[in-house]
Amino acid sequence: YIRNKSVINRKLLKVILLGDSGVGKSSLMNQYVHQQFAAEYKATIGADFLTKHVMIDNVPVTMQIWDTAGQERFQSLGVAFYRGADCCALVFDINSEKSFDSVTSWKEAQIQNPHDFCFVLLGNKVDIENQRQVLKIQRVNPLMMSGVQKESSQLVSAKNGTCVVDAFDCLAATTLNRD
Ligand code: GTP
Repeated sequence: YIRNKSVINRKLLKVILLGDSGVGKSSLMNQYVHQQFAAEYKATIGADFLTKHVMIDNVPVTMQIWDTAGQERFQSLGVAFYRGADCCALVFDINSEKSFDSVTSWKEAQIQNPHDFCFVLLGNKVDIENQRQVLKIQRVNPLMMSGVQKESSQLVSAKNGTCVVDAFDCLAATTLNRD
């Protein structure tokens, strides 16, 4: 009975990862859920999800994280896919200016009703320092105008795990506080 009750009280948060191919969406999901990292690249086809049970501000939460395909030819997600999602993490690679510039178009192309979502911005691959193209997170300004708060931006590394748990916890807390 107690077990059932705890299941009932769990909050489900559906989080969608969006961004260019190769920025590390699958890797971030795997690092967060399994604490694993694979160096070889395997393209995501369509979408795939993993779940993780966490406690956020003493609330038991099930994070359902959806990894989507960055490669255009593998994108086939309809509007229905985004319905019911609580949060959208826009991911870029800090070593690729292009992936950063794409973030706004990802948001605009995929999301019909931006007000239904909580947005966060994740700059991945901070473990690679010397090739950094996106120097300052302040450059996020244009995004802030389109609804992404500065506080919701984080630099992470799916490779060594830097700030990954932090970023997802923060995203969950921001989303929960919004309700
Ligand atoms: P699509 O499935 O095409 O959308 O790509 P994706 O965004 O899911 O990227 P993926 O996680 O497959 O990672 C692409 C490549 O970058 C892989 O070779 C990863 O090993 C590598 N990678 C991902 N995250 C990091 C990171 O934080 N640091 C480094 N150095 N490499 C990373």
